[in-house]
Amino acid sequence: MDFDESKTKINLARAFAGECMGGARYQFIAKEAMSQGYSYISDTLKALAKNEMAHARVFYDHLLELSNGKLSNIEISAGYPFEDYELSNSLKNAAGAELSEAKNIYPTFAKIARDEGFIEVAKSFELISLVEKEHFEKLSLMDKKLKAKALYKSKESTKWECSNCGHYHEGKEPWKECPLCSYPQGYVMFQVEE
Ligand SMILES: [Fe+2]
Ligand SMILES: [Fe+2]
Repeated sequence: MDFDESKTKINLARAFAGECMGGARYQFIAKEAMSQGYSYISDTLKALAKNEMAHARVFYDHLLELSNGKLSNIEISAGYPFEDYELSNSLKNAAGAELSEAKNIYPTFAKIARDEGFIEVAKSFELISLVEKEHFEKLSLMDKKLKAKALYKSKESTKWECSNCGHYHEGKEPWKECPLCSYPQGYVMFQVEE
């Protein structure tokens, strides 16, 4: 299959655009989280943003490599979300977007790439869809805990650690203000996986 005529070329361009926007959106939400004092949520979102930029790079590199230097502008048509970045809604919306990438979009793109004979591209879509599934889980857990005001509560005794100074203690709840560096509770690291 000629790459230039393939659906995979368009899908790579769409995926690249989606990843770039996802990365930007996570940076915006990270800033919003920080302004509300949720430093560790902010750090987590920045880590996700970094992942999205890495995914964007993988797709971009496939495009460059498969087009043998003959790549010009690619016309794409797709719907992309433009929601405000109010923290709780953003986490929920972002989780939904991740789930649809993980369950529908990337597996479909992988199948098309495989059918068109672009096996390495298919593998990238498959591997990235697994990461997006993890992103979905982290974002929905943060959304759930934030809504329930349960970011800093645990049923069982657990280890809490300050992301600023490394101070830690075991218990069902962490400090309101770190006894070592005085940074507020928003700096305490919490579980982002169940
Ligand atoms: Fe991604
Ligand atoms: Fe993601």
